[in-house]
Amino acid sequence: MKVLALSGSLRAASINSALLRAARRLAPPEITINVFSRLGDLPLFNPDLEPDPPIAAIEFRSQVAASDALLIASPEYAHGVTGTIKNALDWLVSYEPFAYKAVAVLNASPRAHHADAALREVLRTMAAVVIESASNAIPLLGSGLDEDGMVNSPLVAASVRESLAGLYDAVVLRRASHAASFPLR
Ligand SMILES: Cc1cc2nc3c(=O)[nH]c(=O)nc-3n(C[C@H](O)[C@H](O)[C@H](O)COP(=O)(O)O)c2cc1C
Repeated sequence: MKVLALSGSLRAASINSALLRAARRLAPPEITINVFSRLGDLPLFNPDLEPDPPIAAIEFRSQVAASDALLIASPEYAHGVTGTIKNALDWLVSYEPFAYKAVAVLNASPRAHHADAALREVLRTMAAVVIESASNAIPLLGSGLDEDGMVNSPLVAASVRESLAGLYDAVVLRRASHAASFPLR
């Protein structure tokens, strides 16, 4: 199963980006995680650009289309989602391959419930399928853990593995058993 991981933070020392890189290392062999590192290269979304999208948007969209699922970790800014993740999602609103895509949401700061709820609302509105069994809050803010620390933390590793197992189950196993009726792509 191919997973595209998106961080809503452009900070070099981002906890959310580190969490996604840790997830890539913790993933079992049947799951490949590609941490997309160029969300910062996306221009601000403008519907006028749709007929001839910029190369960064074309590349981003093609990575989305090539993935079975998305894994998103994004901070909360002023009780909202970050501009980085909202801009990325805006580029997918009218991109047909995104509809019915399975998405897992990791929240690295459980106190940031406004952005978590807002992100889920945006995703549902875009016809993504938010996989609840794969969406975990992991209290990393203030933990002092970097990427290595997350990989080596039994609690964080277990939580990440639980998310990935939930995503795999939702995408691969259910698709196989309910091919005709399950709408995930
Ligand atoms: C501009 C800005 C606004 C923030 N607003 C909130 C907020 O409303 N609620 C919150 O819980 N944390 C807020 N924070 C804290 C961030 O969520 C926290 O620093 C988080 O670690 C950032 O994620 P990152 O490490 O992946 O960059 C804010 C941080 C910044 C830089």
